[in-house]
Amino acid sequence: MHCGLDFGTSNSTLGMVEDGMPHLLALQGGRRALPTAIFYAETGGAPLIGHDAVRAYLDGEEGRLLRSIKSILGTSLIDESTRIGRGRLPLKQAIGDYIGRFKRLAEAEKDAEITTVVHGRPVHFVDDDPVGDQAAEDSLREILRGLGFKHIEFQVEPLAAARHFAHRFTREALALVVDIGGGTSDFSTVHIRPGPGGRPGGGGFGHMEILGNHGIRLGGTNFDQVLSFNEVMPHFGRGVPLGDKAMAPPNWIYADLSSWPRIQSLYSQQALNDVKALVRRSGDDPRFERLYAIVYEQLGHHLAGDVEAAKIALSRDVATALDLGYIERDFSLPLVVQDLENALVDSLERLEGAMDACLRGSGLGRERIDLLVLTGGSTEMPLLQAQLRRLFPEATLEPCDTFGAVGSGLALEAEALFGPKKE
Ligand SMILES: Nc1ncnc2c1ncn2[C@@H]1O[C@H](COP(=O)(O)OP(=O)(O)OP(=O)(O)O)[C@@H](O)[C@H]1O
Ligand SMILES: [Mg+2]
Repeated sequence: MHCGLDFGTSNSTLGMVEDGMPHLLALQGGRRALPTAIFYAETGGAPLIGHDAVRAYLDGEEGRLLRSIKSILGTSLIDESTRIGRGRLPLKQAIGDYIGRFKRLAEAEKDAEITTVVHGRPVHFVDDDPVGDQAAEDSLREILRGLGFKHIEFQVEPLAAARHFAHRFTREALALVVDIGGGTSDFSTVHIRPGPGGRPGGGGFGHMEILGNHGIRLGGTNFDQVLSFNEVMPHFGRGVPLGDKAMAPPNWIYADLSSWPRIQSLYSQQALNDVKALVRRSGDDPRFERLYAIVYEQLGHHLAGDVEAAKIALSRDVATALDLGYIERDFSLPLVVQDLENALVDSLERLEGAMDACLRGSGLGRERIDLLVLTGGSTEMPLLQAQLRRLFPEATLEPCDTFGAVGSGLALEAEALFGPKKE
């Protein structure tokens, strides 16, 4: 059996085609997108994934939660490990464990073995480093082979989304696909043409000319990180002068605490000792006591999840509050949309540069684009949509299945390559 698999930084989907239509499997209580999260209980046993993993962590079960494991690909973290109970787990294995359990859930649902996959990948796992980029794909391929996939094809995520979009689109358009997810921002330019007689193109690449792709390693998890580092971490001692020498505490603690793939590296005896020393040197400043509480109670993912939720709330409202009563009684932090705007100035600039690079590589000016196809959770940000409207005043913005377009497109491609009716 074949499938399309969108292993995302924040959410993952697995799709198949039924009666010509892509369909994402609803696993774990009917939700199509599964959080890319894995939880290893301290006591051992099979790891939990998705919603079950997040729930186990939030319920306070002893163990290790890992999130953003896709971000490990293409970095030195791929060769690192994390402590679980008395043992250590190579982080690379966590990727295999997650995808493997996801595959088995789908196989149980379908009562069939899945041996063939069209797997999504960002345009670049690593920026400006073709060798590192290829190495990341090779690592992923090796992991997939180890899980029993015999035929593995990769497709870049924005083209998968384009395929899904074009599947039912009946007009001609010069489109820029904008896929801004949790870990990367990926772009494709495509010329979509309707099928014979004005029928939908059907999503086959026969009806879509691919003009260019580009992508950068920047996404919603980075937005969370900057917001946390700038607005939240000062309340945990970042930048606060310490003792007589007026030295600030080391920034790496705060960088790790606000970075989804690095949080668990703080859950070590060494880090705990370091933070304890900061509490002492600060004369028991409550900000460092909060930091100690987070590291000691392993609440870093909880905090990161709250910062992410606040970021999402600021897509709807101009102000919100982080309720941090689980760190210190009655502790709450207000955040306003301006905080998010300030945090994202550099990111929005980098996104503009990446879109321009995509257009340059495609031989197109911005004015030629008449359609922007938006997918990926971060494209729901009004800030980002406003920027797109400014950069492409003539183009229509077309939101396309925010969390499902890539998985559906990969499923369509798997069917075209491996299904009974070849393209
Ligand atoms: N309404 C919203 N406003 C702002 N951000 C949002 C919103 N909804 C979701 N997000 C963000 O979107 C990101 C997840 O999007 P998505 O599921 O498309 O990513 P992904 O496919 O897992 O990641 P990638 O494709 O980069 O590997 C998260 O960072 C999440 O915080
Ligand atoms: Mg994605």
